[in-house]
Amino acid sequence: MNYADLANAGVLAQPVYEPGKPIARVAQEFGLVPDEVAKLASNENPHGPSPLAMAAGRAAMGSAHIYPDGAGHLLREAIAAERGVEPEAVIPGNGSNEIIELLGHAFLRPGVEVVMGAQAFIVYKLVTRLFGATAVEVPMKGFAHDLSAMRAAVTERTRLLFVASPNNPTGAANEAAELLALAEDLPEHVIFCLDEAYAEYLDTAPDLRTAMAAGRKVFCLRTFSKIYGLGGLRIGYGYGDQELVALLQRVRQPFNVNAVAQAAAVAALGDVEFYEMCRRENAAGREVLVSGLNAIGFETFGGSANFVLTRVGDGSACFLKLQSQGIIVRPLDVYGMPEFVRITIGTQEENQRLLQAMQVWSGSELRPA
Ligand SMILES: Cc1ncc(COP(=O)(O)O)c(C=O)c1O
Repeated sequence: MNYADLANAGVLAQPVYEPGKPIARVAQEFGLVPDEVAKLASNENPHGPSPLAMAAGRAAMGSAHIYPDGAGHLLREAIAAERGVEPEAVIPGNGSNEIIELLGHAFLRPGVEVVMGAQAFIVYKLVTRLFGATAVEVPMKGFAHDLSAMRAAVTERTRLLFVASPNNPTGAANEAAELLALAEDLPEHVIFCLDEAYAEYLDTAPDLRTAMAAGRKVFCLRTFSKIYGLGGLRIGYGYGDQELVALLQRVRQPFNVNAVAQAAAVAALGDVEFYEMCRRENAAGREVLVSGLNAIGFETFGGSANFVLTRVGDGSACFLKLQSQGIIVRPLDVYGMPEFVRITIGTQEENQRLLQAMQVWSGSELRPA
């Protein structure tokens, strides 16, 4: 008997999530200097961690022999103050991915349905399948979530409905008014989960806190991996109704968020200068990338997040070509988008290198006419 015969069905149905290759490995494979490899594949912050977060993280290392605060008191207070909610309405996680998994533990099982966009962030589907629930994938409209179609896909069996705005990998965001209308229209057996991983990059982020306060079943996810530059520490959070948060608290590991991450996240929340710099640089970098890519002849999509979706012809071939030049982007076959790559907005220098490499790729014969 094989191990697979013993495994849960959800595990066997699970596609393997393939993260981009690390810089050191790409450098080694292509004979490059690691410092010259630009990783524009995972929507990380090209400006590094916030300096205040780094200092706080280093200081926290001095107590690394002590378990972290399992309840995350200081962190929850800091997040609650920033979000304008009670600390009891906040649950920190080992990345916001962990919070998605906690939702699975609490609400998903065979026979239950989860509504999501067909090109939505893939972890919704992975977690749904892991718990043996059914992913109901709703076609998207011009790469944005089609909220009326998603509402129509809700059945008696639906427990969760995910919308990422802006969505990864498509970049499209939904209007605040239509998100609010959906929150108000969903039946009470459905939890509307709004993933705000890239909300900080929007000019005005949708705000569902009024719907939350009015008792609608709305739960929001945020992360420190993007604008706060702490992807390597794995820290994110969810906020919503205190009853829901209390349920999720029951299913998490006792010390799910490490002490260095907690300290760094608290400091990052207070680093307004860094935050504003990242927003400005991202907006400027987006303009450079979009106009540069368009000038070479590539169509670009997406709104205000820290990445650009680009139609390049053969996404995998483009990815390999760029990788050989020390630039890592994300091919999107796994999202059923083989003609596209997703490019994280980098530093000014990285953006220029990317454009030069795309100029070379534009002459490549694999590109469609
Ligand atoms: C839409 C979306 N949600 C959640 C996440 C997960 O972020 P974290 O690093 O907090 O797990 C990502 C990461 O890329 C994302 O794009």
